[in-house]
Order: sequence, then structure tokens, then C-alpha cells
Amino acid sequence: MTVCSAPGKVYLFGEHAVVYGQPAVPCAIERRARVTVEPRSDDHVRVEAEDLSLDGFTVEYDGTVGDHPDVDVERSLLDAAMGYIDAAVSQARDAAGAPNAGFDITVESDIPLGAGLGSSAAVVVAGIDAATRALGEPLAPRELADRAYRAEFDVQDGQASRADTFCSTMGGAVRVEGDDCEPIETPNLPFVVGFDGGAGDTGALVAGVRELTEEYGFADETVRSIGDVVREGEDLLEAATSGADPDAELLAELGDLMNFNHGLLSALGVSARSLDAMVWAARDAGAHGAKLTGAGGGGCIVALDPTPETETALSFTQGCVDAFRAELATEGVRVEV
Ligand code: PMV
Repeated sequence: MTVCSAPGKVYLFGEHAVVYGQPAVPCAIERRARVTVEPRSDDHVRVEAEDLSLDGFTVEYDGTVGDHPDVDVERSLLDAAMGYIDAAVSQARDAAGAPNAGFDITVESDIPLGAGLGSSAAVVVAGIDAATRALGEPLAPRELADRAYRAEFDVQDGQASRADTFCSTMGGAVRVEGDDCEPIETPNLPFVVGFDGGAGDTGALVAGVRELTEEYGFADETVRSIGDVVREGEDLLEAATSGADPDAELLAELGDLMNFNHGLLSALGVSARSLDAMVWAARDAGAHGAKLTGAGGGGCIVALDPTPETETALSFTQGCVDAFRAELATEGVRVEV
């Protein structure tokens, strides 16, 4: 039995603009997906996933990836979750040169689904790592990140950046610009996450931004301005001491940039009433800055606050169903058992 876990992430800066080749800085957080893999003697794949839909599900199918029997789960939820697991199985089989390998797979996750925290990337990264290790063919981190990206790319019809999968594989903060991905040194950033219980439709939101940029020059400039905010943020992180607790001045400057980034995302039409309410509740509670994280439309916001105030304020904010502190996960994917 092989168990691997991989972290979710928040975007400190740069979602959406990253789709247009601007840099982005996602940061891994200590909320993980765990995938247990046991090789089988036949070519069947059996998947047990208690946390990937409302009631969880168990699916077993023969060697043909993607051909699932009906189970008692809303079809769209099953297809969404199984799409990622199938893609991870295909990548692991391909990487290990074992096209008929069968597995018993159990997925557990404490990352809210589809809410901008990289839940699918964490499942795919942990799944490919566990399955290739179980077959005796562990992958180097960059190859693992690349295969996880290709899995997401396939499931999302080409609408995927490398940000989530690279960040989940490597842990810590990373810088992504097109195909160029590098870990970056950061201080301990005191993230607080607010979750509205919903999820945005990433494909529709990305398409909406594209329409705006095609219609209006100023929307295109807004995307470039997000890139400028990211570069400014990177300079601040570079000048700070890695691994140390950040001083108030650094937090204030990063927070200002997060606020600016949220405003620009809002201008591009990807915020939501619930996200704005949580962003303002965090700012009113004294957070240094707050912004939506991920595709938007619903889901999560991220704030910077070393005190308990923001978490408490968010937990009393109408529309916020969960608020939690999210430590930077310095470790990316790892073997648990
Ligand atoms: O909601 P998430 O975590 O999948 O983030 C989407 C980020 C986008 O920039 C909007 C799209 C992408 O693939 O980078």
C-alpha cells in the first residue's frame, strides 16, 4: 500500500492574468488530499472517494479508463471527480510503462472542492505519485508536476495553467510564467481563508475575461496591470528573509498589492457578492489585505493576518460557511506510508 499526500494552494497574486502569459505566485497551504494506492492482480480500477462529492462514492471498472458504471451519485459530480482520477491513472500507467496496471484507490481530501484552492491538482499530483511509486517507478518532482499538468490539461480541455500542479508538487511559494515554473523563497505568510460554500465555473470565467480583453483595450491593460502587481509583489518577497515571520511593513505592502489585485480581478468581472463581502469583512477586521483566490465567481478568498481577528470576523460574516488559518505548506507532495 502506498499513501501520498499533496497540498492545496492559494493565489497570493496573479490568477487569470497567468492565462495571458503574465507571472503568478501561488502558495501551497496545509490542507491536503491523500491518495492510497494498492496495485491489483487484474486490470481493474476501484475508486473510493468519500470527500469528492456530497455523499462520497465507490466505483469499480475494468481496464478501460473513463468507462464508469452508474453509481448513486449525481452524474456531473461523479464525472468531474472521476475525470481527474482517470487522468491520473492514465499518466501513472504511461509513466511506469504498465498500460494494464490495476489499482485499488482511496481518495481523502480536506480541501474544499472547486473553490480556488487547487483540490483537483492535489488529487492528481498525490494520485500519480502514489500510483507510480506503487508500481516501483517513482517520478522526479518536475516530471511528476509535468504529468499532473498534462492530466489537468486533458480533463479541462486545454484550459489549465501549470500553477496548481507545480505548486502542489513542490510546496511553498512558486512563480509561474507560461511554461516557466520555479520555487521562490518566502517568509511565513499568515494566510486566512474564507469559503462561501460554492464554486465558480472556471471555464466560463476564463472565457468571460477573454471576451472582455478582446472587446476592450482597457481590459487587456487590466490583465497587464495584474502582471505589474505580481512583479512588484515578487520584488517584496525577494527582499524579505525566507522562512522568517514577516514584519508589519512587509505585510502592509503585500496586503496593499493583494487589495489592488482584487480590485483588478473585480474589474474583469470575476468576483462575486459573497467574495466581496468576505474581502471587506477581512479588511474591516484588520487584515493587511484580502483578495479572491482562483477562478472566482464563488469559492474562497485569502487574507493576510497574523492575529486571530480575521478568522473570527469571517466566521460571523453572512455567506461565509468556513474560515480557517492556512499555514504555508513548505513541503509539497510527500509519501505518508
Ligand atoms: O480556481 P483554480 O484554483 O482552478 O484557479 C484558476 C486560475 C485561472 O488563472 C483562472 C485559470 C488557470 O488555469 O490558471
